[in-house]
Amino acid sequence: METVERIEPARLEDLPEAISDVVAELSAAAAKLGHALNPQTAANLAGLVRIMNTYYSNLIEGHNTRPRDIARAIDGNFDNDEARRNLQIEAAAHVRVQSEIDAMALENRLPEPASVDFILWLHREFYRDAAPEMLRIQGAGTEFMMQPGTWRSQSEHDVAVGRHQPPSSARVEAFMTYFAERYRFERLGKAARITAIPAAHHRFNYIHPFPDGNGRVSRLMSHAMAHLAGIGAHGLWSVSRGLARGLIGPGDYKRMMDHADMPRQGDLDGRGNLSQRALNEYVLWFLQVCLDQVTFMTGLFEIETLAQRMRHLVERSEQLKPEAARLLEEALIRGQFDRGEVPRITGLPERTARRVFNDVIAAGLLASDTPKGPVSLRFPFDTLDVLFPRLFPEI
Ligand SMILES: Nc1ncnc2c1ncn2[C@@H]1O[C@H](COP(=O)(O)OP(=O)(O)O)[C@@H](O)[C@H]1O
Ligand SMILES: [Mg+2]
Repeated sequence: METVERIEPARLEDLPEAISDVVAELSAAAAKLGHALNPQTAANLAGLVRIMNTYYSNLIEGHNTRPRDIARAIDGNFDNDEARRNLQIEAAAHVRVQSEIDAMALENRLPEPASVDFILWLHREFYRDAAPEMLRIQGAGTEFMMQPGTWRSQSEHDVAVGRHQPPSSARVEAFMTYFAERYRFERLGKAARITAIPAAHHRFNYIHPFPDGNGRVSRLMSHAMAHLAGIGAHGLWSVSRGLARGLIGPGDYKRMMDHADMPRQGDLDGRGNLSQRALNEYVLWFLQVCLDQVTFMTGLFEIETLAQRMRHLVERSEQLKPEAARLLEEALIRGQFDRGEVPRITGLPERTARRVFNDVIAAGLLASDTPKGPVSLRFPFDTLDVLFPRLFPEI
């Protein structure tokens, strides 16, 4: 069936209690996440979350680039090996697009997240710097170059996703116009926006509008939707870590995506082409994954916990004096401070204080945007396993 209603039900028909409970918990938890953090500290942490999201979103696709190599790529340092370099370019692009989304959210200029223009933009931007090798699509008997930011349109672009056969390429444009209409946030209330995030995530991948890159683009779309649904917490959590890890295990995501492809099962299963019950189960699972992530990040970014881990980091360090911990805590709580305050904060005489401060700068834990400007916290990679345990499986 090639009519655009093939993606119905696109939204929930009613709000089952289990789903409304998780919606309420998720909004409350997201509102609290990062609430106590100074905005400057929160902004630096959001940078770390973008690397994390990129790492997990690419990992889901089997593209494994270590967080450390992603950070290097952001700084413009690439591997000599071509395949590794291509993955680094891809990861850096993912971080760049997510930064752009976070900035748009901050400035209240995110467009409709399911709109044709926005989704094409995501795909075009994600592949902007990609090497030709990354755009070459090889399928059963076909080989062609993908055009970033354009839908599948010709029969040679047809795709299969596991057992699922998405609409034929000639119909993608019509499907995506309908998709944009069904998930227009402007028309949805707060709870409806939250439940639309998982539903749109599945229906997008069900249509599979691009030859490749659908998974990554859909997770960026979900990230943008989370901002617009009021649960974005200034970029301090992201869905990809949850999707990659699942609730039971890493197999959850593919299994639940497959589950939601299910056709309607009889008269009591909604009114659309696909199963309403399976969609509800998928939405519940996805929102539980989100809640799990928000809870995890809340624990990680809790001020007292973070302060304690910073003290621990300083204790373990051979270069840092105990007073260095006071500087880190000051930056944590106030976001930033002036260099002239260092003696007062450490309680040390001028010259000793300066030495302690310089050691902290050398360790990369404090930095400023301008040479003499106020300093704020940074999170170098060799400190992450102490400061943020379990954020990544491997650094
Ligand atoms: N059964 C399914 N039904 C719909 N979508 C699926 C299914 N299984 C996997 N997917 C989605 O397809 C994505 C992979 O599509 P692909 O175009 O290769 O994206 P990417 O290049 O970003 O990996 C997965 O990340 C997932 O979101
Ligand atoms: Mg792919």
